[in-house]
Amino acid sequence: MKVTQLDCLCVILLHLLHTAGSEKFEVLGPTDVIAAVAGDDIILPCYLKPNISAEDMTVDWLNLDFLDGRVYRYQNHRIIRDDQIPFYRGRTSLFKEELWKGNTSLKLTRVQGTDEGHYKCLVQSKSWYDDFTIQVLVEAVGSKPVVSIEGHREGGMGLLCESEGWHPQPELVWLDSKGVHLSAGPPESHRDFKGFYTVKQHVIVQETDTNRFTCRVQQSRINEKMETEVHLPSELFDTTPWRISFIVLCCLGAITVIGLSLAIYCIRIKKGVIIDHLKMQRDFETIRRHAVNVTLDPDTAHCKLILSEDRKQVRHGELNQVLSDNRKRLTNWSGILGNEGFSGKFYYEVKVEGKTEWTLGVVRKSIYRYLGFRPNLKKGCWTVELEDGKYTAHADSPVTLLLRAKPQKVGVFVDYEKCQVSFYNVEDRCHIYSFTGCTFTEKLYPFFNPGGSDSISLVICPVDATD
Ligand SMILES: *[C@@H]1O[C@H](CO)[C@@H](O)[C@H](O)[C@H]1NC(C)=O
Ligand SMILES: *[C@@H]1O[C@H](CO)[C@@H](O)[C@H](O)[C@H]1NC(C)=O
Repeated sequence: MKVTQLDCLCVILLHLLHTAGSEKFEVLGPTDVIAAVAGDDIILPCYLKPNISAEDMTVDWLNLDFLDGRVYRYQNHRIIRDDQIPFYRGRTSLFKEELWKGNTSLKLTRVQGTDEGHYKCLVQSKSWYDDFTIQVLVEAVGSKPVVSIEGHREGGMGLLCESEGWHPQPELVWLDSKGVHLSAGPPESHRDFKGFYTVKQHVIVQETDTNRFTCRVQQSRINEKMETEVHLPSELFDTTPWRISFIVLCCLGAITVIGLSLAIYCIRIKKGVIIDHLKMQRDFETIRRHAVNVTLDPDTAHCKLILSEDRKQVRHGELNQVLSDNRKRLTNWSGILGNEGFSGKFYYEVKVEGKTEWTLGVVRKSIYRYLGFRPNLKKGCWTVELEDGKYTAHADSPVTLLLRAKPQKVGVFVDYEKCQVSFYNVEDRCHIYSFTGCTFTEKLYPFFNPGGSDSISLVICPVDATD
């Protein structure tokens, strides 16, 4: 009798153990750190051992650096979005078709700086749970440093270097031509909402025998560096001639060109750019002799634009006008073209006084009709824009222009043969920016966009040689 009871008990115990045992599982993943490149899609591997189905379980993904919120939750066969950390929204998923094999890996798309951290994969059944933690490192190589001249400072020349889009935070150093560190201002850094770093630093340099200075931005963990070298003409250090001060004050855009050119061209060409700019300064009067009569082409006007009777002025109006449908009209990007295209040399002036937004320049007409048109060098548009108080030249990557004087009247000059588009501040007779080495294949049309932030007209002015 006793024996039978014991037998019974054993059977029950064995049964319980068996049931519990069948529910037990381990959660596993990689022990190595996962290095993710910003912008890529990655998989954070995680699976059950034995490979039982996780379809009826709760799968949680947590980022241990963010304790109030989850990366992802799967429960009762559904995705639970409450408590999801906002920057993971729309970027995370499980492989639903793999859950029955115990694969609870997470897919994370468009990796950004804030994704770095320790991720816990936590899987719970009704009677059991286990977890595994994976470390993710994010790597992002930022932009080539952009150097701008800030003008005469404390007996030297002030320069500013800036580079954006890094992860982790990089170090910025200023070097002279021998590679010796220059003592510079305090490093400044800023982290954007995606977790990428921008760094910048001011330096004051003294004239040297080479006048070459390098800004280097480096990140040792990811073993990456980017640098930009600038060469300052020695005239810049000379404070006496008025012309030089003018160049510094008005033509800060030029150095941005130099910075960018350094990436692509050798030092000889780079010097050429500076000399070109000085020369252009002197040649301004010559350039104005190439003035052409530009009038606006109403057929190309965006429906929010209002033209004057003489077709010399254009401004933004609130109402969409009902306009004839012709294939020339710009629909999804505000703007209007001149009625005539040019090759060879041509010049015209536009009054922008009082305006808070404008875009001026030239475009290829064929590009103009494409949907989704935006001023962009690759697409055949060479423009300078004022928006939010910032002047930008739209090249391959937009170049920010640091102009001390706000131009009231802008001169646009195209030298088709030399493949150059240049912009001038007419009052100050000063160069603003030049696109060089452009590729022109067809006639270029003047482009105008008065912007939507004010209703002041852009006015095409007659060019008066004695102005
Ligand atoms: C689960 O694991 C077993 C043994 O390791 C293997 O034979 C089987 O193919 C696996 N099943 C799936 C769906 O991966
Ligand atoms: C889980 O499924 C994904 C998608 O099919 C696959 O890439 C990954 O290797 C799987 N992981 C494991 C641990 O089986």
